[in-house]
Amino acid sequence: MFFASGSGSNFQAVIDAIQNNEIEAVITGLITDKESAGALLRAKNHQIETKVILNFGSASSNEELEQQLQIWNPDLIVLAGFLRKIPTNIIRQYPDKIINIHPALLPKFGGKGFYGRHVHNAVIEAGETKSGCTVHYVNEEYDEGAIIRQSIVDVHPEDSAETLAKRVLSEEHKALPAVIKQILNQNN
Ligand code: GRF
Repeated sequence: MFFASGSGSNFQAVIDAIQNNEIEAVITGLITDKESAGALLRAKNHQIETKVILNFGSASSNEELEQQLQIWNPDLIVLAGFLRKIPTNIIRQYPDKIINIHPALLPKFGGKGFYGRHVHNAVIEAGETKSGCTVHYVNEEYDEGAIIRQSIVDVHPEDSAETLAKRVLSEEHKALPAVIKQILNQNN
């Protein structure tokens, strides 16, 4: 199952990979903390169950989250543009079963506050000539879990956060489905 807060293009990339029989899997559901998340529409277009948890992180929402995960009983939990911290009790209930995709080459340019264009601005301001994306396991610290796969792109001198984000995102759309396929094949 997926967590997403934004447009959900990574989520869509996995939906497409499953539809194209590149990955043999069923997406049991999508959880979001934003009613405006584009990912919600993508889920509904593909008859994927959704749940909006607004006060994410509160005790009542943790209870709701635990119950929903027990119902869906996922083999793998994917954070695809999810901006909230997964509660520690959930991380402990699903050890090495939660992955995240981050739009930079961790361990650099990760951690609290490094999301969206803030990441790409920091990469450009640091004068990096390379950037990319990282798929990693989620542990109890932001963006610090074991790295599974990284894809590298060039940073061009004339890049803005938008142009770099676009180049990185196209790599994300390849890396995330590839990692999910790799992990699920391992489990079979
Ligand atoms: C991606 O850049 C991802 O790396 C980051 O948030 C963005 C989500 O984009 N975590 P989308 O919602 O999948 O289009």
